[in-house]
Order: sequence, then structure tokens, then C-alpha cells
Amino acid sequence: MERLKQALKKLHEAKPEELDKVKKEVRKYFRDTNPTELALAEQELIQEGVSRNELKRLCDVHLDVMKEELHAKAKRIRLPASHPISILKDEHKIIKRNLKRLKHILEKLSIVNSFEKARQQVNTLKELSHFFLETEKHHQREEEALFPRLEEHGITEPPQIFKEDHAEFKAKKKSLNEIAMAQQEKDFKEFLEGITPLIEFLTKNLEEHIYKEDNILYPMALEVLEKEEWKEVRKKFDAIGYCCFAPEDIK
Ligand SMILES: [Fe+2]
Ligand SMILES: [Fe+2]
Repeated sequence: MERLKQALKKLHEAKPEELDKVKKEVRKYFRDTNPTELALAEQELIQEGVSRNELKRLCDVHLDVMKEELHAKAKRIRLPASHPISILKDEHKIIKRNLKRLKHILEKLSIVNSFEKARQQVNTLKELSHFFLETEKHHQREEEALFPRLEEHGITEPPQIFKEDHAEFKAKKKSLNEIAMAQQEKDFKEFLEGITPLIEFLTKNLEEHIYKEDNILYPMALEVLEKEEWKEVRKKFDAIGYCCFAPEDIK
């Protein structure tokens, strides 16, 4: 743990031009670590005064360092389809597919210059922006059913970071939906300028958020939560409801 913290600190203090070198140097410390250990080390750094924003940046850096190892570990996890984590991961797949569609729509809209020529794309955009509002249920289930359990096990910082992300996504999704729906009142250029940064933000950051959950947060939760707790999580899931699909066993 101490070595891991030192490695994180080194990354934290590295100047941009040294970052690649430092990344190579500290790689070995991350190799044998597990997500829980990593979370606890990060938490201690925050208690020692590293800001949450800085930690977020750091998180991207060590994620980059650990990517292959984490991904290989996460891939080995086998769970029944009815397990809360399976449900969340399946929803991620649908969300990612729709993020790709969103990106594609933006590319198409960028090469036309009027609503007349883009009717089909604008309709798909409306549909998609509605879909993304619906995915709030997914975040709600994470925040209300999963995160409190992690916190009970002493893992408090990662949920906080993910919650901040959720709030940011929510605001962008709302704006996107508003612009898509009010499309007729605007001229095309203004419309395009409104949606472009929102779509760019979501495709980049939501995709990364999902990656971190699939490969760090969820494996960590699987490590610390007891079997009985997962049943409670699932009950809460059912009470909150689902967005992209209903699980097989309640269909
Ligand atoms: Fe999330
Ligand atoms: Fe998620």
C-alpha cells in the first residue's frame, strides 16, 4: 500500500514532459494491485490533502498505466445475468452503442447546412436525446443501491467522484434534449453550435466513465460486498426501475 501511494504521488508530481517516463517507472507497482487497494490508496491521498480534481486527473493517468491488467482481470469475472453488476454492464453496452450513434449523427449533421436536408438525422437525435434522459435510472441505481454499500465498506472517495460525473452528465443530457426538441425555433448553424460541444463531451467522458466502472469500480464492489448484500442491491434496483431493458427474470 505504501509503495502504491508513493507511485501515485510520483505520478501526481511529474511534470507533463516527464509523465511518459514516470508512467513506465511506476508501472510495476500497479501490476499486482487490485482495485480495492488502489481505491484505499487514493483515499488516503485525499485525506493528506490532494484535491479531488487532481485525483480525477491522476485516475486517468494510472488507468492508462493499468489498462491492460485491469481489463484482463475484469474480463475473467463471470456472473449470472440477474446479478446487479450484470444488469449495469449490459446497460453500459446499450449506452455505448447509442453514444456511437450520437457521434455518427453529429458527423452527418456537420456536413449539411439546413434542417430540410437533415430531417432524418434530427429525428434520430431527438430519439437519442430522449434515450439518454432515460438512462438517469441507471445512474440512480448506482448512486442509491450500490454506492452506499461501498461506503459502508469504507470505500468513500470513488463513489464521490462517480457521483460528480453523473451530475455533469445529467446537465449536458438535459441541454441536449432541450436543443433537440426546440430545433424548429433555431437556425441550423445555431442549432449545430449548440449540440456539438454537448455531444463531444458526452461521447468522450461518458465512455470513459463507463470504462472505469466496468474495469475498476464494479470489480471492486464484487470484491467487498457480501453475497447477501447483492440480494439487497437487486431489491433496490427493482424498486427504482430500469431504463434500457428489464432483466430476464422480471420480464
Ligand atoms: Fe456511473
Ligand atoms: Fe454506469
